[in-house]
Amino acid sequence: MSIDIRNKFLKFFKSKGHQIYESMPLVPDDASLLFTNAGMVQFKDIFTGKIPTPEIKRATSAQLCIRAGGKHNDLENVGYTARHHTLFEMLGNFSFGDYFKKDAISYAWEFVTKELGFSENVLYVTVHQDDDEAFSLWSEHIDPSRIKKMGDADNFWQMGDTGPCGPCSEIFVDQGDEFFHSEEDYFGGDGDRFLEIWNLVFMQYERSADGKLHPLPKPSIDTGMGLERVQALLEGKRNNFDSSIFMPLIQEVSKITNKTYVYENGASFRVIADHARAVAFLLAQGVNFDKEGRGYVLRRILRRAVRHGYLLGLNEPFLYLIVEKVCDQMGGHYQYLSQKKQIISEQCKNEEARFFETIESGMEMFKKELESLPKNTPFSGEIAFKLYDTYGFPLDLTQDMLREKKIEIDIEKFESCMQEQKKRAKASWKGSGDEVKNGDFLELINEFGSNKFNGYEHFHFTSKVLALLDENYKRVKELKNNGYILFETTPLYPESGGAIGDTGELYKDGNKIADILDTKKYFGLNISEIHPFGIIKVNEMLDIYVSSDRYEISKHHSATHLLHASLRKILGSHISQAGSLVQSTRLRFDFSHPKPLNSEEIQSIEEEVNRLIFKSIQTKTELLPIQEARSKGAMALFGEKYGDIVRVISFDEDSCEFCGGIHVQNTANIGGFYITKESGVSSGVRRIEAVCGKAGYEWGKNAIKTLEIAKETLKTQDVHLGILKLKEQIKELKEKNSKSNFLIDLEPIDQVEGVNIIIKKIQSGNIKEIIDNTKNTNEKVAIFLLQQEEQKISVACGVKNAPLKAGEWVKEVANILGGQGGGRDDFASGGGKNIDKIQEALDFAQYFARKKIKEPA
Ligand code: ALA
Repeated sequence: MSIDIRNKFLKFFKSKGHQIYESMPLVPDDASLLFTNAGMVQFKDIFTGKIPTPEIKRATSAQLCIRAGGKHNDLENVGYTARHHTLFEMLGNFSFGDYFKKDAISYAWEFVTKELGFSENVLYVTVHQDDDEAFSLWSEHIDPSRIKKMGDADNFWQMGDTGPCGPCSEIFVDQGDEFFHSEEDYFGGDGDRFLEIWNLVFMQYERSADGKLHPLPKPSIDTGMGLERVQALLEGKRNNFDSSIFMPLIQEVSKITNKTYVYENGASFRVIADHARAVAFLLAQGVNFDKEGRGYVLRRILRRAVRHGYLLGLNEPFLYLIVEKVCDQMGGHYQYLSQKKQIISEQCKNEEARFFETIESGMEMFKKELESLPKNTPFSGEIAFKLYDTYGFPLDLTQDMLREKKIEIDIEKFESCMQEQKKRAKASWKGSGDEVKNGDFLELINEFGSNKFNGYEHFHFTSKVLALLDENYKRVKELKNNGYILFETTPLYPESGGAIGDTGELYKDGNKIADILDTKKYFGLNISEIHPFGIIKVNEMLDIYVSSDRYEISKHHSATHLLHASLRKILGSHISQAGSLVQSTRLRFDFSHPKPLNSEEIQSIEEEVNRLIFKSIQTKTELLPIQEARSKGAMALFGEKYGDIVRVISFDEDSCEFCGGIHVQNTANIGGFYITKESGVSSGVRRIEAVCGKAGYEWGKNAIKTLEIAKETLKTQDVHLGILKLKEQIKELKEKNSKSNFLIDLEPIDQVEGVNIIIKKIQSGNIKEIIDNTKNTNEKVAIFLLQQEEQKISVACGVKNAPLKAGEWVKEVANILGGQGGGRDDFASGGGKNIDKIQEALDFAQYFARKKIKEPA
């Protein structure tokens, strides 16, 4: 049924001369936006005038949108209202300087009344209070008593603080007074009775930075209709979740939990049904669970769903089953959902399992804190941080849990704990790319359009300086200090597709005048960051030299394509790229795969890449219409926005990918290829790091040198044998050492109810023996020992005459250390790997022992 509305809409607008566009990826090619959140996003460049003369004048699409995080955030409402969702489909028609208000209104009226069959008696519209034109155009279709004029807050839409904007007109459906009795249920009020289904935006002005409105030379149209709302209405439902889109998912939840869904207390069912859709689409489009940025939004959505599952009594992964159902339900139109069903279900299940490991302990801590919280006091920021850091509860999840109780969190304290931790942790990832570098970019786009890139053919080029920006991205006429430069034509490749941007040098009249530090795309402009040695002025001609690093970057870039192809050949076609970094000295490639690679697999992959290198394949670069490229089997990436003509790079039949990057001319130029590391990034995503070219040679040389040093140190040619001997010696020494265990100082750190609590990190000794000795010399004791050997942590505990179970104790602490443990009530052991959590684990061990001894269950 939902397919009907989508197709009906697209077909209708096609018949009115609109070109149908596919839903663009949920992750837009635009760092200023977290997710695609409206149908107009894929046409943003046309609306802003960056593409001044678009080839098409009319377009239509059914766009998947996500409004969870960023400017439009509906996450916390989902489940508690009739119409909010994280993921939804927006049906839209667009005119780029072609038709305007008159046709937009009459098309909408025709579609709503004739195609969807809504009776005129239930339809209402709003227009902007100053838009008499829209009022009179609507009056041709609908009785003026059903048209309401409203202010800017409701009926003026703008894309951002600046840029195209205009008054809008919204179409409402009256669901009748039978079921709606709130005071807000009048036309124009905030109640649910009058449901907005369609927003028509009349893009009529451009707002400049000073806030003024200037008429656009070519007024345009942007509309958005919510598919899920219309679906529910047509099915006679007063709540989106009752429609055939969500009901099958809710029923599945009901089946798994063995609980009947009742609307009144069914928020958890609705949250799960909604979130499963967002999780399915984001995973299928290549977004992965992560610690920050978009991947963290995905993680938050999943954890919110898991918590609601937990509230329904579930203690193990379940969401993946709903995700599978989403794939079955929507995999007809969105075929990638069917194709990737198995792998995304596995990814989802792994991530769920991780959260289920800690949710119980986290909830316990949460409840305890809540119970002891005096009235009218905010929830401790420290505990909220601990829940976040140790138990994986995103801040908004904890906020969500407190919302029903109307309790706020001490955010200031939470933030300061976060800052502290950030200081401690090494920042290993760059920002999520969400920051908007506003600056004067829009002005540059309006003045110059996009600048030209000719770096595929040129390493050196002389070009005019179009503009200069200072460190704050503000336009200047000349530059003495670090800043940014825009050339008319540039051979410098901007960071993209994982490859880093070009560096280089600038010359004026034969003299070096600046270093080029980096090159990036800013709002589509190819701009380089520079460090001048003299004064650089707008309009002068400069010689641009690309750094020879480019050559090594291109080797790593081509090697990445060969690696991608080899992974698919050796591991299977479920492999899809999840991220990539290409530098002059190394490459990093992330891909979806459920388990670690074994050494044979790693070796076969490395051999396959080298086979392709030694095959000396000539690189083929083609520009093809997108459909032709797809039917050739070229691999495209989600998260990339492609135009109608795409660049395709292929190496014989072995590899064929959409790619705008710079490559070697022949695979033989890559030299040799070594995999230096294989590791896990997040659940379901593996990472390979590798080197080639000059860096490959350096890597081989260093490996041989290290081996030589080892031989010399061990005084043997057989390194392996030498190490075995050393290990034997260490073992002997350890045994000797453990004989002196009784010498270790084991003072209690605490005494509760007469029980000595001993908690200690020890350097050496046999843990088991020490515990036995301690038990012999104490009447009532709880002893917990931790020993670290490089990356490995062992823990053990013993309990004598105290109401504390050793097995339970060790399990809880090992959990913090990212490991496991268990055993009897009087002795138990375990281990873990999180060496940065040792202090926290020891603190927790003490807290846990005190608690259990004081308040035995
Ligand atoms: N872009 C408009 C909206 O999001 C149609 O409501």
